[in-house]
Amino acid sequence: MSGEDRERWDARHLGLGPGTPQPPDALRGHLDLVPAQGRALDVACGRGAVAVWLAGRGLDVVAVDVSPAGLAAAAELATAERPPGRIRWVEADLDDGFPIEDGTYDVVVCQRFRAPALYPVLASAVAPGGLLAITVLSEVGDAGGRFRAAPGELVRAFADLEIVAHHEDAGEAHLLARRPA
Ligand SMILES: C[S@@+](CC[C@H](N)C(=O)[O-])C[C@H]1O[C@@H](n2cnc3c(N)ncnc32)[C@H](O)[C@@H]1O
Repeated sequence: MSGEDRERWDARHLGLGPGTPQPPDALRGHLDLVPAQGRALDVACGRGAVAVWLAGRGLDVVAVDVSPAGLAAAAELATAERPPGRIRWVEADLDDGFPIEDGTYDVVVCQRFRAPALYPVLASAVAPGGLLAITVLSEVGDAGGRFRAAPGELVRAFADLEIVAHHEDAGEAHLLARRPA
């Protein structure tokens, strides 16, 4: 990512007020599947709403983003919420590859950051019995564009996982999938 793009993300995060913890969109309606302990990974975590929510459920979370401003806001939210789970914030440019090699996770989230080159890494980061919750911009219900997923992209990319729910509409695609135990 160029320095200019990083500055753009920083400016965007700085322009927003304090966030609130939120479950990932792909998990809505399935919150009973979220384990009460274990490890979670939030890829492109932004201002930490999902990471802090996962830590609030008792999971220990690793959360990655390129934006120092986003991560600073995320750490502030965690300080305010004091969730029971621990959170490790990692500043990294995912265009340079995946920065973490420390095993698998019980919940893997990637929301509104579409990087098809990372799909195999996301799939292999899901532990046996673990969940993947992913949301990307989609061509379905939208005019299209180079940042949007083609119809069925997520289902094809994560074909070796069990699909729990898949929904494409209004310019977004959501997939909730599980690695068989
Ligand atoms: C639309 S936001 C989504 C944030 C969060 N996942 C959410 O759902 O609220 C996209 C995030 O991706 C991050 N991002 C964009 N390009 C990135 C890259 N190359 N490496 C790491 N993070 C990146 C941005 O800083 C931003 O926080």
